[in-house]
Amino acid sequence: MAFLADSLKRIKPSATIAVTDKARALKLAGRNVIGLGAGEPDFDTPDNIKEAAIKAIRDGKASKYTNVDGIAELKEAVCRKFKTENGLDYKPSQVSVGTGGKQVLYNAFVATLNPGDEVIIPAPYWVSYPEMVMLAGGEPVEVKTTMESGFKMSGEALERAITPKTKWLLLNSPSNPTGAAYTKSELKALTDVLVRHAHVHVLTDDMYEHLVYDDFQFFTPAQIEPRLYERTLTVNGVSKAYCMTGWRIGFAGGPEPLIKAMAMIQSQSTSNPSAVSQWAAVEALNGPKDFIPKHNKIFKERRDLCVAMLNQAKGIQCPKPEGAFYVFPSCAGTIGKTAPTGKRLATDEDFVTELLEAEGVAVVQGTPFGLGPAFRISYATATSAVQEACERIQRFCGNLR
Ligand SMILES: Cc1ncc(COP(=O)(O)O)c(C=O)c1O
Repeated sequence: MAFLADSLKRIKPSATIAVTDKARALKLAGRNVIGLGAGEPDFDTPDNIKEAAIKAIRDGKASKYTNVDGIAELKEAVCRKFKTENGLDYKPSQVSVGTGGKQVLYNAFVATLNPGDEVIIPAPYWVSYPEMVMLAGGEPVEVKTTMESGFKMSGEALERAITPKTKWLLLNSPSNPTGAAYTKSELKALTDVLVRHAHVHVLTDDMYEHLVYDDFQFFTPAQIEPRLYERTLTVNGVSKAYCMTGWRIGFAGGPEPLIKAMAMIQSQSTSNPSAVSQWAAVEALNGPKDFIPKHNKIFKERRDLCVAMLNQAKGIQCPKPEGAFYVFPSCAGTIGKTAPTGKRLATDEDFVTELLEAEGVAVVQGTPFGLGPAFRISYATATSAVQEACERIQRFCGNLR
């Protein structure tokens, strides 16, 4: 009898963590490596948020267990955020707080998926989505998008993917890994379809909401289609916009029975997210947000730099995304060519492996995100490093034979 569970047979380790580990090992060995793999801001958590956490510790607010799915103060701050930023009315009893957006998403799938239940996931997608769905016993249903469509799913494609077994549509705008974000009318094309399919629920992962550029206006499904409010789980968190990936706080607003079920799962697994981090998140949501446009100005400059420089690399095509801190260029024009080591590039994995070998630039291949040959660059690192990395990619592509 096998010791490890059969359910693990379908699960892959995260490709993004694998590339980060490989880059770290090369660095330790003395190589000059630029890591563009990690999906987290290079900026530090703002001081007012850190101070709130220190104060919570000093005031003895961090010593004890808290309410399983979030302290009242944080749930209220989340309700205020949804109301003022998204026009959504949620009561504290409709809010769940977990250990990062990741736990909130996982709880939602465990709470709702029976064997055979389908979750529609537009590709490219965040690597964890299909694996989470499978761990929870469901079936991911990929809907491929194209670079030409801006990596966005059309209403027709959504309609074709819906079956009687569809439980969720999982949306992520702005997207990891493409940075693509749906405009109001693009989102409306999807919500119009969903209105006609009452058994399909919407799980919207709005983690990159605040990271949009060029006056792009962010919308979330329940905001533009109130008829979907009762069957939408709106997931968000403080990790990306507030530079708090290490603090591990995510949250969601949704129908009360689902929120209760998610709390029950959390109560029998991890219990409350860290009390210190919850108090830090209260300050993040209620405190000043002037650092967000400052960071966005820098992110936008880096995005523009990447897009311009990568489009000058031989065999690379890089669309300009609306948000997040990723670009997702195609490397189709390099496939079949030969790298300096003599290796013929057959896949995007070969491309990123040889790029790391030849030029010490760590990026993640596109295929694990559901679309290749391509690669993901996270430009959430110093602008000078982004520029140097793009120069090295240009050189690498120019040297392919
Ligand atoms: C699209 C998306 N959703 C959710 C998360 C998880 O965020 P957290 O760090 O809050 O768990 C990430 C993190 O990479 C992400 O890219």
